[in-house]
Amino acid sequence: MTGFDVLDFFEPCGRVSSLRDELFVTPGKEKVEDSSFKENADAALQDDITRTIDVLDLPHISLKPPKNVLIAILRVLKLEQQCNFGPGVEELTPSQFLSNRDLTIEEVSDILPWLKIHSPRIASIDSFCQIGPSFSGSRDIVRYLTTVLSSPLNWLQDPDVEDIYKAASSRLSERCGRTSRPDFVRKIVLNNLYKRTGCESILLKEPSLTSDNLGLKTWGSSFILSQRLINDDKGKYLKEPILELGAGTGLIGIIVAHLGYHITLSDLPEILPNLKENVKLNNANARADCHELDWDQPDSFIKGNPDSLKGYNTLVFSDPVYSTNQPRWVANISEQFLGKSTEARILLQVPIRSGFQKERDHLWALMADKGFQLVESHQQDGYDDFGEQEFVFRVYRWHSSFL
Ligand SMILES: C[S@@+](CC[C@H](N)C(=O)[O-])C[C@H]1O[C@@H](n2cnc3c(N)ncnc32)[C@H](O)[C@@H]1O
Repeated sequence: MTGFDVLDFFEPCGRVSSLRDELFVTPGKEKVEDSSFKENADAALQDDITRTIDVLDLPHISLKPPKNVLIAILRVLKLEQQCNFGPGVEELTPSQFLSNRDLTIEEVSDILPWLKIHSPRIASIDSFCQIGPSFSGSRDIVRYLTTVLSSPLNWLQDPDVEDIYKAASSRLSERCGRTSRPDFVRKIVLNNLYKRTGCESILLKEPSLTSDNLGLKTWGSSFILSQRLINDDKGKYLKEPILELGAGTGLIGIIVAHLGYHITLSDLPEILPNLKENVKLNNANARADCHELDWDQPDSFIKGNPDSLKGYNTLVFSDPVYSTNQPRWVANISEQFLGKSTEARILLQVPIRSGFQKERDHLWALMADKGFQLVESHQQDGYDDFGEQEFVFRVYRWHSSFL
């Protein structure tokens, strides 16, 4: 996968202490008991209130924070909901914000007395809610999380320690790039989505990526092709019956269903459960059916869907080529399932990844050999989780001599 660098995980040491660190965290002491000291510090911190929350404002582990304080801090550090291929902008009330992080106002209120003494800059509901956004793009927080994970937390009970390690490792892995991120829900917002479909956004569950199950992630190609289909208010690209191959998390199929078409979504067996969940989550069941279909072994799909033998008027592929065999499978399955009509078309959206030039060229050559004629081609810039990406969109139809 391009763009993912495991070194992103590491960072230079950066700041190791500050005045605040030295004042509040006296090595070997549990907490600072001098009240005049605290008052002065509070006043200084009031002056400093416009400064965003810093990692040094969080409860230091040497202060032996109780379990509920650590758990609340680790929950509020949960990353904002992913929107498209970047962090979302959440406009939420404090109680909505906390509820998205499995916290309640009451739980946070309960820890405020402890925070007032030990972490005064985050000792109100409002400032506590600032913790998450303050660290969304910061690497300093990795240092805090690893400090929690490397502490024996020996003032807490064993099951509590387990809970804290679990929460800290989840926060850490969320910050280690898409490939190591735990389950999350991605929100997709597209131009004119509401106007064309009545949906404000699409929500896609994405389990953590295991082995090479790339269909558990939403790829930039499906985003860019979905936008093209939404923009196509003349219905130039879609004609029923429609089959999507390698539907992944289901974005295109869900959009197509909400545009009013019936679509069959297909993928490998291991991708189907999450695909079905996403179709249901977005209320697209009425027009979107999900089926197993392995491009190399389509027999069981054909057996379960005898009408497929009549052929489809639209085949949709988004990001189908990233290994040696795939060009051949994509070309063969297209030949098998594209209806024999002048209307029938294949929509192919492919990222231009530099390491896969050979596979793309092979696919284009095989498509021509099979009798498909390229009728439209556009190159376009877009995004994926790993940064900017160029994409190509192609439409193929049967060459008249093959009909
Ligand atoms: C890179 S992902 C793209 C997923 C989705 N179309 C998108 O753009 O977000 C490639 C998809 O093709 C599916 N796929 C790969 N090889 C396949 C095969 N032999 N048969 C069926 N599906 C396959 C994968 O399971 C995965 O869902």
